[in-house]
Amino acid sequence: MTTGKNLVDQTRDGEILILTIQNPPVNAFSVGVPEGLHAGLDVAESDAEVRAVVIIGGGRTFVAGADIRTFDLPREQSPDLRGVVNRLDGFSKPVVAAIHGTALGGGLELALACTYRVAVPGAQLGLPEVKLGVLPGAGGTQRLPRVVGAQKALEMMLSGNPVKAEEAGTLGLIDELVDGDLLTGAVAFARAHTDTTPLPRVSEKTAEGGSPELFAAARDGIKKTHKGQYSPGLIVDLAEMATRKPFAEGYAEEGRLFMQAKDSPQSRGLRHIFFAEREAGKIAGLDKNTPQTEIRAAGIIGAGTMGGGIAMNFLNVGIPVTIVETTQEALDRGLGVVRKNYENTAKKGRMSMDDVEKRMGMLTPTLNMQDLSGADIIIEAVFENMDVKKEIFTRLDAIAKPGAILASNTSTLDVNEIASVTKRPESVIGLHFFSPANVMRLLEIVRADKTSDSVLATGMALAKRIKKVGVVVGVCDGFVGNRMVHHYGDEARKLAEEGAKPQDVDAAMHSLGLPMGPFEMSDMAGLDVGHLIRQHQAKVAGQPKPDGWLDRIVEAGRKGQKTQAGIYNYPDGRRPVPAESTDELLSTYRQEKGLTPREVSQDEATRRLTYSLVNEGAQILDEGIAQRSSDIDVIYVYGYGFPAYRGGPMKYADEQGLGSVMADLEKYGQTPAPLLKKLAEEGRTFADWDKEKARG
Ligand code: CAA
Repeated sequence: MTTGKNLVDQTRDGEILILTIQNPPVNAFSVGVPEGLHAGLDVAESDAEVRAVVIIGGGRTFVAGADIRTFDLPREQSPDLRGVVNRLDGFSKPVVAAIHGTALGGGLELALACTYRVAVPGAQLGLPEVKLGVLPGAGGTQRLPRVVGAQKALEMMLSGNPVKAEEAGTLGLIDELVDGDLLTGAVAFARAHTDTTPLPRVSEKTAEGGSPELFAAARDGIKKTHKGQYSPGLIVDLAEMATRKPFAEGYAEEGRLFMQAKDSPQSRGLRHIFFAEREAGKIAGLDKNTPQTEIRAAGIIGAGTMGGGIAMNFLNVGIPVTIVETTQEALDRGLGVVRKNYENTAKKGRMSMDDVEKRMGMLTPTLNMQDLSGADIIIEAVFENMDVKKEIFTRLDAIAKPGAILASNTSTLDVNEIASVTKRPESVIGLHFFSPANVMRLLEIVRADKTSDSVLATGMALAKRIKKVGVVVGVCDGFVGNRMVHHYGDEARKLAEEGAKPQDVDAAMHSLGLPMGPFEMSDMAGLDVGHLIRQHQAKVAGQPKPDGWLDRIVEAGRKGQKTQAGIYNYPDGRRPVPAESTDELLSTYRQEKGLTPREVSQDEATRRLTYSLVNEGAQILDEGIAQRSSDIDVIYVYGYGFPAYRGGPMKYADEQGLGSVMADLEKYGQTPAPLLKKLAEEGRTFADWDKEKARG
């Protein structure tokens, strides 16, 4: 397509033509980039004085990939990366790709089609397309194996992880590591190669190391690493072609399969999550320049599973932590667990023992809360009890230095009420980590009524610093994630009452790609937690003791994984095995309640469970507890194992069509939330709602 747009600057250094791509922030291959590169190559072809070309990125990076935003455009409106790559492959003069920052996806493919590649130390080169549910579509699957060999190419394309320029040098992926100014080095390199004939071309090389065993092992491996996903298998097939077929054949097939993968719901889901994650960092009405508190030291109250896990996040990025407990025994136990976690990482070779000691050296245990007076942020991570939390915050108010952030890791409680006991409610925020807190990437950032903009902005920046995905949520029972899970759990319980076996209910969610179903999750979290809450609620409401079938399981002493028995049995401590006693208990329960069991299909269970999440999600949006539906998706993908390739529950509902979601909800006796109903009736999606809201 010709647009007249040109995002490439042309300059000269004697006989070298320099083409600088100017498409900030990441020089994605958008419309205007191919036009500019073609215009430059036209000059290089027609001007006899030009002896070589350097392609470089302006700003902070080389090309970080195809412009993902254009993937939904019709082909004729998409920037034609293949056209540029084809032209470079047969170009009559040497072309040097000069790489800094990241050369990812289409960026690396562009570089691979050049005659030479040079890079600064630390630059990153990779083909991350698998993370977006696609495959390298501009020759990457055919050229990379021809440069680094089939094994390394498979490793890079299936993990999607980049290699640093230093390693790229040893792999032959770059021809020279440039110390000092990249452009100067690249021009000198180009000048030294103006007379080289014939020009080396990656497409003419042979891909080494493609044994049948290698591809068989790769196909086996992706069944585990990319379970249920479509594009990894195509990547393996194409890498195999690179080792067996002429370049042109593999390249043509790659083009065809790329289009297929790009148009798949899985790729739409993964692209949705890519942008949703970045969108989650933007908070309506919060000025980008809001002043933030510098976090140099953290305090944590509680050295249990959560407190210890939270501490590790800070230690990992070099922020010292003071951790408080009420007894020496609890403190020793907590520190022991942190040390053990680090030592296990060291055993796997992912950290040195020196690093273990360094991190442990930054963790100061104490029994005296007064020792938190120097902390810039204090996170309370004790058990869920409002009275205990209020007492702690009252004490913290007297101890914490002025300006310190006071955070609660509550997963359900009212942060406004917690803040109300302090004289500085503007400094109070909820930071809801997910267990295991050192692993799970989600952080729900709870904005209470009086939380200041500065504290909120600091919370968001902190999430990024400790490598979490922060999502802002409002105050309500369970915030976003646990509030939705509550409804999901209710629906699961009903399905079992109607006749489904617990393992069939869980299998319904496995079929969607979730690693755990609702009952496996309840067993892991502990069935006693919900039981205690129900007991408390009944007592407060003056109602009789709760007597659901789940309450009966707890009363039989089966609290879940921790007692090696819950809805399931756990003979080896971890793996759930269906329990006959649960079937019997359910059967008795149904008889007592006059419920006639019926066959529940897997399809019905999957719909009812997923749509219970969606329905509550719609209500949450309507109440303003979440800013946008894509935030809810981020929460479910990073906090609850909803497969990213399905885009999260709200995106999944959009893909199914909200009309059909509403019809199913009604069919199965759930009342559609007003917002869901409205959108369905207007033929719109949650994504439409997000867009309209962003426009204001
Ligand atoms: N297309 C469109 N927009 C992109 C983009 C891309 N490939 N990569 C990044 N952006 C946008 C982001 O959405 C973000 O936009 P907003 O500021 O509006 O939110 C902005 O650029 C900055 O991105 P980050 O916040 O992620 O910046 P970062 O410095 O933390 O990370 C990065 C930079 C490592 C390049 C990261 O953005 C990234 O991993 N990008 C994706 C790279 C990728 O997947 N490339 C392959 C694309 S598929 C392809 O190329 C197919 C093919 O073979 C033809």
